[in-house]
Amino acid sequence: MSNQFKALILNQNGESFLREIKTIEKNFLKHGDVTVKVDYSGLNYKDALILKNGARLVKEFPHIPGIDFSGVVEESNHKNFKSGDEVILTGWRVGEIYFGGYSQYAKVNGNFLVKKPENLSLRESMIMGTAGFTALQCSFTTKTTREELLLGEKVENVIVSGASGGVGSMAVMILNKLGCNVTAITSKDTNVEYLKLIGAKNVVNTKELTKDARPLDKGLWDGAVDTVGGKVLENILSQTKDAGIVSSCGNAADVKLNTTVMPFIIRGVKLWGINSVTASIKRRKFLWGEASKLIDFKVLEKSVKEISLDEIVEVYPKMLKGETSGRYIVNLNK
Ligand SMILES: NC(=O)c1ccc[n+]([C@@H]2O[C@H](COP(=O)([O-])OP(=O)(O)OC[C@H]3O[C@@H](n4cnc5c(N)ncnc54)[C@H](OP(=O)(O)O)[C@@H]3O)[C@@H](O)[C@H]2O)c1
Repeated sequence: MSNQFKALILNQNGESFLREIKTIEKNFLKHGDVTVKVDYSGLNYKDALILKNGARLVKEFPHIPGIDFSGVVEESNHKNFKSGDEVILTGWRVGEIYFGGYSQYAKVNGNFLVKKPENLSLRESMIMGTAGFTALQCSFTTKTTREELLLGEKVENVIVSGASGGVGSMAVMILNKLGCNVTAITSKDTNVEYLKLIGAKNVVNTKELTKDARPLDKGLWDGAVDTVGGKVLENILSQTKDAGIVSSCGNAADVKLNTTVMPFIIRGVKLWGINSVTASIKRRKFLWGEASKLIDFKVLEKSVKEISLDEIVEVYPKMLKGETSGRYIVNLNK
């Protein structure tokens, strides 16, 4: 391992925050027992918030952001990993309270890592990143939890909100591949064709789901993936049919949820919370193992932008202003 390498360092000086690409040494990395040569990281909305001002998630400065990465193990003092293993990291508060992936080398707790499945490349795993992993969690919860764990009816008609977003778009693709008829909800009419290309059978405008929800509306969906919360989720719940599972992972529109107990006690609807940060390693291994069958990387590639460590600083403010689209991946060798 080269003793010197590049990393993006976030520092605080009173009220202001400074982001610099610096050459650092191995002993700067203070957490964990596995050193990984990072190939790719992602630029997620949470990363952009952290880059702005630590987002009250970062407890100590100087800090290395980057909530997800993929790479090759360089040195390991963990029993499950050895030099040369290709690994994926998402969540566990890496890039928040631990140093993250915006560094050519990262040192993390081996308990946080998953070995990359053979049928997925390091680049593909970060094209998915935290968003793709969350989409897998949501989609499997909505479809297979009902069909296989709860031995319920087949899940055919599903609805996905925030469909142009990272989680939403990959959930549309995955649920379509799992055999569902997917209705995508989007606020962007310009994205209708793209959403159909990635697997949506129907597309509805977000406006149609922002009215005040009735306690029970006409049942339309066997299940749903919601990434936005608020009124959209309220309407989805009241339109979900008997025993449907609604996976809720996000609050892109609103953190509030003003609903009644009717969908739960009359239709047995289940509102299933999804947290990718602390998903068990057993679940991670299963879901990453399914990824290559359910994600069409040729199609996704069209919306991928590959940037260097230096370019993060230019892109993240645009992401915070809603001026970016598609998935940004950071190539640490660029
Ligand atoms: N629970 C977890 O572990 C976990 C993991 C990852 C992400 N998340 C959360 O999941 C959510 C989605 O993440 P993401 O990475 O997919 O974000 P993203 O790429 O920014 O996408 C969010 C999408 O939500 C829709 N949206 C935005 N503002 C809206 C509004 N005011 N009303 C209605 N729809 C709105 C937009 O879709 P359209 O343009 O199609 O309308 C947007 O593309 C976020 O809240 C994120 O924090 C949670």
